[in-house]
Amino acid sequence: RILIVDYGGQYTHLIARRIRELEVYSEIVFYRDLNRVNIEDYDAVILSGSHLSVKSLDKDAVETARKILMEGDKPLLGICFGHQLIGYLLGAKLSTGCSEYGRTTMKILSSDELFNGWGNSEVVWMSHGECIEDLPDSITLLAESENKVVAAIKAVVNNRAVYGVQFHPEVHHTVKGRRLLDNFLGIINAKKAWRTENYYRYIIDELGREVTRNGVAVVGVSGGIDSTVTALIGKKLFGDKLISVFVDHGLLREGERELVVSSLEKLGLNPLIVDAGERFISKLEGSTDCEERRRVIGEEFARIFSEIIEKEGAEYFLQGTTYPDIIESGGTRKAASVIKSHHNVGGLPEWFRGRVKILEPLRFLYKDEVREIARLLGVPREIIERHPFPGPGLAVRITGIFTKKKLDVCRRASKIVEDVLGEYGLYSRVWQAFAVVGDDRWVGVKGDARSHGYIVTVRIVESVDGMTADYSKIPYDVLDEISRRITNSIQDVTMVTYAITSKPPSTIEPC
Ligand code: XMP
Repeated sequence: RILIVDYGGQYTHLIARRIRELEVYSEIVFYRDLNRVNIEDYDAVILSGSHLSVKSLDKDAVETARKILMEGDKPLLGICFGHQLIGYLLGAKLSTGCSEYGRTTMKILSSDELFNGWGNSEVVWMSHGECIEDLPDSITLLAESENKVVAAIKAVVNNRAVYGVQFHPEVHHTVKGRRLLDNFLGIINAKKAWRTENYYRYIIDELGREVTRNGVAVVGVSGGIDSTVTALIGKKLFGDKLISVFVDHGLLREGERELVVSSLEKLGLNPLIVDAGERFISKLEGSTDCEERRRVIGEEFARIFSEIIEKEGAEYFLQGTTYPDIIESGGTRKAASVIKSHHNVGGLPEWFRGRVKILEPLRFLYKDEVREIARLLGVPREIIERHPFPGPGLAVRITGIFTKKKLDVCRRASKIVEDVLGEYGLYSRVWQAFAVVGDDRWVGVKGDARSHGYIVTVRIVESVDGMTADYSKIPYDVLDEISRRITNSIQDVTMVTYAITSKPPSTIEPC
């Protein structure tokens, strides 16, 4: 097991994923929560990148890192900021004015097993404003960049190897980055035993020991892959004592309810359907703030589930929370800003948590790992390939004031976006595709009359895990078809725009 200390770097998740792809289990801990973990449980520690400068790191955090480096005995790899931190703690000088961004060529000066399989000169990805220089004798300079910046170092401290690399081996642009991480795992003799399949069995064994036999459990199912897999795990654990509940909050995509219920039935999950459209929408009408909508929806979900839990005397509630949900909602990143409070994590009110035991079997898994388990469990393709859909549904695709009218436009336009992509064979090639409706208007001429219609923004993105995303370079004729169909069939729309900003800086959903 590898522990990744997160100093707030944008690629920390990628490090964890790459290590897991190399079949070694890895976990992320936010640097301020380091005192909560036992480093002895891990085989090695990786220090991540950061938006911080080593000099601005608070004293406690520097002291913790110093202890891990100087007093600990776990092999270390510092990446970018982590590399500078190691260098600084070993006595190198921190320097500014040596920034490098993007592809850079790096030259190896001293061979080392960390660079097995690398040529003398390779392309690496840099993203730093500071660097280390004036290395003390205890540090070996392994490589430098074409700009003569220290690119890789090694030291032996307490009889174990400590490495630092200024570049990012976890991003694909570092051509042999994966090989470097694999070499590091080889150096520390990490056991390659991480397989999603084993983890599924581990979840069932672990939870099986924890839960009361014959206990009643409730799970919310949405038809999404996370909740479906969670429900199947619940079924394995609780058998027919599991009650799966599908809440129709009136914010679903067109035809979604029928499709979801029939797919779930095929899996033997016959969900109880709660028809709650009016209940939700009456509370949302007139609201202008998406975060407030998330809170209202989370609260209403909790109330519905709490009524069912009470009525059925349930002891457990299962949630399909995944690893990025936990991290993005501030689970381990208390100090980092909460970008959006994804309702299934941040929005669960405290009063609900106190009422029932919450089980989150997927909390350490990434989406693609959940997908793998889904395949293993025979989840139908229509669920596995379905685009992710936010828990608060179309409520987060309406910007400005929330009205029933805009909801209707959003639903119909989104259906057209999905249909056209399907017809052109593009649906499963993209991560998400939908329509957004705001308050801006555009003057239109439909027939002979001038009208002030809505502007619909089409958002189609490609992504691996939703953490970063690129807007999809959809062919013009497909965009043209989407645009024409929307303006022809939805009377109140007079303009269709295409969102051409990636994440970051934008998020995927508009609010
Ligand atoms: P953003 O918009 O944060 O989206 O770039 C990243 C992924 O998260 C989904 N998303 C949500 N999922 N509740 C959810 O369950 C939410 O409130 C929520 N907001 C965004 C989004 O669809 C994308 O897949």
